[in-house]
Amino acid sequence: MSVKKAVILAGGWGTRFLPATISVAKEMFPIVDKPIMFYHLKECVDSGITDCLIIFSKTKKELKEFIFPNKDINKKLAKNNKLSLLDEYNSVRNKLNIKMIYQKKMTGSAGAVNLAKKWLNGDDFVLFYGDDLFTSDVPVAKMLINENDKTGKSVCILNKVKKSEISRYGSAVLEERNGTKNLVGIIEKPKAEEAPSLYAVVGRYLLTNDIFNDFNKIKPKNGELYLTDAICEQAKNGKCAGVVLKGKYHDCGNKLEYAKCITDFTLKNSEFGKDYLQYLKEVVKKEN
Ligand code: G1P
Repeated sequence: MSVKKAVILAGGWGTRFLPATISVAKEMFPIVDKPIMFYHLKECVDSGITDCLIIFSKTKKELKEFIFPNKDINKKLAKNNKLSLLDEYNSVRNKLNIKMIYQKKMTGSAGAVNLAKKWLNGDDFVLFYGDDLFTSDVPVAKMLINENDKTGKSVCILNKVKKSEISRYGSAVLEERNGTKNLVGIIEKPKAEEAPSLYAVVGRYLLTNDIFNDFNKIKPKNGELYLTDAICEQAKNGKCAGVVLKGKYHDCGNKLEYAKCITDFTLKNSEFGKDYLQYLKEVVKKEN
């Protein structure tokens, strides 16, 4: 059976976006009118996922309010005949069973994923990094699920980046066999000239449940366990595939990329995308 569960990591502090993140969870940063978290939930629904676990930190109360909104909001909107403003949200939210759990200590990405073990109950899952958004015809989680349906392996999404960008990411070590890319390792944030490839492994992973055995094999660094190390264990043993992203990756954990993401989404907006393009043209003209 295809993977039906997703784990969304939303525990980080968002230090790169201080002071905004003093009071706003970065997963709640809006991309125009919808927060990043909405797009994660939509990707789940569009990929056939039915059950989500969100791992978050206690300070992010607004994230909880977004997932479990106060019923009064519906009453208020109904009174003003504006209930339809929540149609898109409701159509996504109502299709998902969502559980949220607190991450008390920052124990690294693998430490966070470990908290999902009981909830997963032996099932494979798609892992979402809270910062990472994608736009593509086929949703990225679905690309991973399709590959897992074929191979039964864990699957990483591979995003080709410029040489100047690879040091921000995990760089894939790939072995090409019969036209398919096998992931045999990941070098985390290498110097550009030492990168094994320009394929960055970015924040969506389909992980088979045996990844939890690999967590016992990896060593903590500064008290934190890193997911990349566990994926490397799988990769070494031929249990990991790579799928090249057909679409666009938005690294919303990076300020410039977040700004670009808003531009991309605004340009696609059916209501005012064209006006925005016109505005951008005017700005560019003025700058020159
Ligand atoms: C993490 C991963 C890295 C990945 C990146 C973007 O790094 O360790 O392999 O390329 O996310 O998804 P971080 O940005 O958390 O330091």
